[in-house]
Amino acid sequence: MCGIVGYVGRRDCTDVLVSALTKLEYRGYDSAGIAVFENGKIAVAKTKGRLSDLTAKMEREGKPKGHAGIGHTRWATHGEPSDVNSHPHSGRRVTIVHNGIIENYKQLKQFLIENERDEFLSDTDTEVVAQLLDFYYDGNPIRCIRKVLHELRGSFALGIVFADRPETVYAVRCESPLIVGQGQGEVFIASDVPAIIKYTKDYYLLEQGEIAVLKNGAVQFCSLHGRMLEKELHTADWDEDSAEKGGYPHYMLKEIHEQPVSVKTTITPRIEDGLPDLSECGITPETLGKFQNIFIVACGTAMHAGMVGKYVIEKLARVSVTVDIASEFRYRDPLLTTNDLVIIISQSGETADSKAVLTLAKKTGAKTLAIVNVKGSSIAREADMVIYTHAGPEIAVASTKAYMVQLSVMYLLAFEMAYAKGRIDRDECRRLTSELVKMPEVIESTINSVVDMCQFVSTKLITADSLLYIGRGLDYALSMEGSLKLKEISYIHSESYAAGELKHGTISLITDGMPVIAVATQNSLLEKTVSNIKEVKARGAMTIVICDEEADIDPEAADYMIRVPKLAELLMPMVATVPMQLLAYYTSVNKGNDVDKPRNLAKSVTVE
Ligand code: G6P
Repeated sequence: MCGIVGYVGRRDCTDVLVSALTKLEYRGYDSAGIAVFENGKIAVAKTKGRLSDLTAKMEREGKPKGHAGIGHTRWATHGEPSDVNSHPHSGRRVTIVHNGIIENYKQLKQFLIENERDEFLSDTDTEVVAQLLDFYYDGNPIRCIRKVLHELRGSFALGIVFADRPETVYAVRCESPLIVGQGQGEVFIASDVPAIIKYTKDYYLLEQGEIAVLKNGAVQFCSLHGRMLEKELHTADWDEDSAEKGGYPHYMLKEIHEQPVSVKTTITPRIEDGLPDLSECGITPETLGKFQNIFIVACGTAMHAGMVGKYVIEKLARVSVTVDIASEFRYRDPLLTTNDLVIIISQSGETADSKAVLTLAKKTGAKTLAIVNVKGSSIAREADMVIYTHAGPEIAVASTKAYMVQLSVMYLLAFEMAYAKGRIDRDECRRLTSELVKMPEVIESTINSVVDMCQFVSTKLITADSLLYIGRGLDYALSMEGSLKLKEISYIHSESYAAGELKHGTISLITDGMPVIAVATQNSLLEKTVSNIKEVKARGAMTIVICDEEADIDPEAADYMIRVPKLAELLMPMVATVPMQLLAYYTSVNKGNDVDKPRNLAKSVTVE
């Protein structure tokens, strides 16, 4: 989704804005632009396309020179990607960049037209905000911003410059994320920390309705009601290197290789005396023991981690777990009570639908637990309890390490819950936990052992128009993620199916040579899954089987076999995930796709 940056300091503002926007490219975008104070006037440069297109345009037409300004990468919502729809947008004296959606922009536009403000150039909701700010501007920026804030409905973060307030950047946030970076005599705004980490690790989190004024290398904050605020300064616990490719050709590959460390960093502080200990997250065995129902709600990959969580929690703790897509759950009037636990899983902690579910759950009195990667994000701050995953910044749009750490937290929760409910004894809980502790090493060796085979098998997939992922039980939960990963970045149509369900319709799609990837790591279901593999094979499918190194699978059933280490059945997802990630990665590379920034996708989906 859109990315916002802003700068006030001594450096060349255009360079800072472009460099900061580069670090937000992972969010997904289709156009870019900046506005910089140049000799007391606002100079704007913007274009459809990539940041390289913006840079080329500035080389051709002149690069704005100055020390204060705002910048933007746009992911189109209202109006097609085009030069004119790109941000910044301006009124007569006000220029803005915007992330989010203004739901009532049509009414506001009508209001402006009725008041003889009909100078709209673009199709965007953002331009309406720029015009509205201009309409109310009486020489007092804060008063004007506050007035407009009361009229806007939706989710948004804005970076604003006023033509008669040179060298000053204003920022405001409502739902969409925005941080303010504090360097030595320079200040920044950004949608996310990676944008500014090159310049400073210190940042403030802007809260709902708060306004920041960046001037003379310093920042002041005031509330929606105009009260001056003192805010807490946070320091990022990672540096620029963590957000760079570090010698890998793509962030995705780097992040796949970072999984062992990410899992280790996530689980180690949560294990005490060989048992899960989530007390630092506000979770005790007593709290976990008392819930009647658990709802896991999330979007995309995070929802798939929840699917694995469901199988593991139900199996071990014998509590009913419902997994739902946030955009569905929020509108289906869910049956929640004060005895229920709602778990929101989110890498970014900013996903609009997941955030809405959190708000809804809190209203019903259900307890809320957030499993979030980005520190201080909205979901993390608003939930009753939070378990941070420590994956570090995930830049590739296709999530890998964030999913892996979400899985590891699902296991910790399941073990602790099962123990708290008396479903497993202390020794069993210790034994399971000790298996989880071995995972970083096991994941590392899995990456090394399957990489060549995945690279080879991917060459068999690149010509496919469509393929299926199948599995049973936990393998089905896993195959959902494998299928999503593949379609996200290879653009091959892919669906995941419960292997036993194939015969009820989908098997009619099998044609000669169609790839079917079967995940078959659950020994107790192996025979049944192998029968399903044979059924598709008999109808011409090219079968690729992901199984453990000891699985006894008829070689006739599999055209290609990718073997991973054998672990306890419940833990197999931690290793079976790896070949699915690598298959998707190499298929995308072999097709010459933009692996880290797949078309149409955004990393952080801050609108509905
Ligand atoms: C987008 C991303 C996915 C992610 C989903 C949920 O679709 O591309 O990788 O799984 O949003 O995001 P979240 O930040 O809530 O985990």
